[in-house]
This record gives sequence, structure tokens and C-alpha cells, in this order.
Amino acid sequence: MTPTIIVHGGAKTITDDKVAANNAGCTAAVEAGWAVLISGGTAAEAVEAAIRVLEADQTFNASLGATLNSDGEVELDAAIMEGSLSWGAVAAVQGIRHPISIARQIMDDKPRLLVARGAERFAADNGAEMCKKEDLIAEEQLEQWKEDQKVIDRPNTVGCVALDASGILAAGTSTGGTTKQQQGRVGDTALVGCGLYADNKIGGCSTTGDGESIIPVVLAKTAIDFLSGDRHPDEAAQMAIDALASKVKGEAGCILIDRQGRVGWAYNSSHMACAYMTVGQDKVAAFTQK
Ligand code: GLY
Repeated sequence: MTPTIIVHGGAKTITDDKVAANNAGCTAAVEAGWAVLISGGTAAEAVEAAIRVLEADQTFNASLGATLNSDGEVELDAAIMEGSLSWGAVAAVQGIRHPISIARQIMDDKPRLLVARGAERFAADNGAEMCKKEDLIAEEQLEQWKEDQKVIDRPNTVGCVALDASGILAAGTSTGGTTKQQQGRVGDTALVGCGLYADNKIGGCSTTGDGESIIPVVLAKTAIDFLSGDRHPDEAAQMAIDALASKVKGEAGCILIDRQGRVGWAYNSSHMACAYMTVGQDKVAAFTQK
């Protein structure tokens, strides 16, 4: 099997001064995941490694530097799914530096979706890197939260899909949700079928965008269904975004890998940071627009 990895840094508007940071962050994430894949690691390990890089990078709306909720606090959701249909997710958590790692830790046991204080207690009891909830607030986000009282909805997410050498697929997502979201709001990111999906027989998908629009069209599973009949992932991704746009308002994007290791992506926002690597490439390909 051909190891392959693709990441996204969110469907959003990327101003010229942020292009380099988005490309660099997505490239670093792919490099981290790729290092796992080529040393024989699993797809889930690669997805976790890549998303941890994005969670630590203030350029992206995930963990450090995430958007602030109505109370001016960082509140995080993350999920991971393996193509064997194993999955784990956390939602509305605070003070956890890498929510994706907690999601991965619970993917083989029940309960598989933990929220808020219960998830935080599980994380603290199981060796997670905990911090004061204030430590995840970036100065830029705080300034924006104070000044930009009118912004009520600017969702984006980070995500990754990987295929490992043994043919296993995995997908993951992580987000701080929408700007000034009501405390306790949970979007698509933690929901299997909406924010992510992986099936070893078909492909893997991670989505980004407006959770309230992504959830009713079950965007990630919809994109995977469009891969049937060996359709190219680029075409399947575009069909999924077109299906969303025909039914609901809102910005969204998705990245896909099929079981052959072909990549594809589509979005209806003005930009989506994206990077990928597969066998035969001499370096990571990174873009902010298609
Ligand atoms: N897609 C991120 C959110 O709506 O929470």
C-alpha cells in the first residue's frame, strides 16, 4: 500500500500576510505525520502526530490560539476515527493542550465520546499534558474577541487523513469551534460522519467549516459515499461540497484519501489551507487555494 497523508488548516479567508504561516504550519504537520508513516507507524498515529503540530500552532483554530467562546475562553472539540470503524472524541474541553491525543486514547473503549469536566478528569488521570485554561488563549484572539463584538460565526478546524503501509486509513479533526460560540456549543468536529469518517474499504475524510451546516448533511460520510465506483477523491470532495451548498447555507471544506492513496479536496470558502505527501513526492505540496 502507498502511505499518504493530507492535512487541512480550515476553510476560511486567508489574508496575504497569513499565507506563509498557513503553508508552513500545514507543511510541518504533514512532515510530522509522514515521519510516522515511513517509519512503519499506523495511520492513527500519523493523524495524531500531524494534528498535534496544528494544535500547537497559533495560526490555526485548534487548542493554542483557538477562537474564544462567549465567555472569552478556549473550549475545544476533537475526534479521530480508524477505518476499522473504531473512534474516539472529546467535546467542550478546557486546559488540555492536545485534545486529539485524548480522543485517540479513548478510541478502543467505551465511553468513546467524553465531554467537558468528565473528559478533563479523564485526561488528567491518564497523563495528558494539562495546562491552565488561560494558557491556550493567544493575544491575537483575545484582542479580536474584545474588539470584534459583531463577529458571531467564523468557524474553521484542523484535520488530517492518513493511509498507512498496511492499508489502514484514519481521519481526525480538532477545533476551538466558532468565534463567540455559546459556552457548551458543540459543532461537527467531534461527530463521526459529520467532522470525520474512515472506512478501510472506501476512504477517509476530514471536514471543516460551519458545524450547523455540516451536521445536517453528514458531510464526511456523504463525501465517502461519493467515492463509490472508484470516483477520484477530488471529484467526490467537490460533489460533497456541492451537495452541502445545494441544501444549506454556510462555508465548508473537506479532504479525502481513497483506499488506493489518491488525495482530493474541495471547499466553498475563499481559501482552505491544505498540504499532502505521498510516495514519489520529493517534498510536501502545500496550498492556501486550489
Ligand atoms: N467545524 C467547526 C465547528 O463548527 O465547530
